[in-house]
Amino acid sequence: MSLALTIEARDAYTDGHCQRLASFAVAVGYALGLPPADIEALRRGGVLHDIGKVGVPDGVLLKPGRLTPTEFDAMKQHTMIGDRLCAPLRSLKRVRPIIRHHHERLDGSGYPDGLVGDAIPQLAQIMSVVDVFDALTTNRPYRAAMTLDDACRELESEVDRGWRRADLVDVFIALRREHRADASPDTAPKAVR
Ligand SMILES: [Fe+2]
Ligand SMILES: [Fe+2]
Repeated sequence: MSLALTIEARDAYTDGHCQRLASFAVAVGYALGLPPADIEALRRGGVLHDIGKVGVPDGVLLKPGRLTPTEFDAMKQHTMIGDRLCAPLRSLKRVRPIIRHHHERLDGSGYPDGLVGDAIPQLAQIMSVVDVFDALTTNRPYRAAMTLDDACRELESEVDRGWRRADLVDVFIALRREHRADASPDTAPKAVR
């Protein structure tokens, strides 16, 4: 877990990303009524999903501009490197499919294995949705953070393109909207002195 946070710390733009992913993914898991072992896998998976980036060269990982096809191939390796890194740890057995498959898409256009539909483990599909959302709603070197509404529209368009499961996206969007409603000043709990 510490190693994962160290990797995240190398890139200022991803600050807090792993912890947010863990809490978003766990919230979706609870909303779906998943068993405790799956919830725990989502929590660890959020922190560890990009652990394989330790094996991606800095020139690719920290490159501000667009990646060339060769560089993108090197970047894709992080899924398999992470899976391999965690292979010796029995405690991460349920987390490894999340690490390996968090960039797959339902139509088979994702990586590293090009899995189609339900062949993609459900926990990895959840991680994938929350990962995309978090990337969209944080500042990146090449663009500013999107608003919640724009990010939700983008996720819905990925459902229309056949990349994500509609039910998972709907559950997550509902949670984010609820969160926003809770955070608005009218409904915020009064400070207790
Ligand atoms: Fe990743
Ligand atoms: Fe990520």
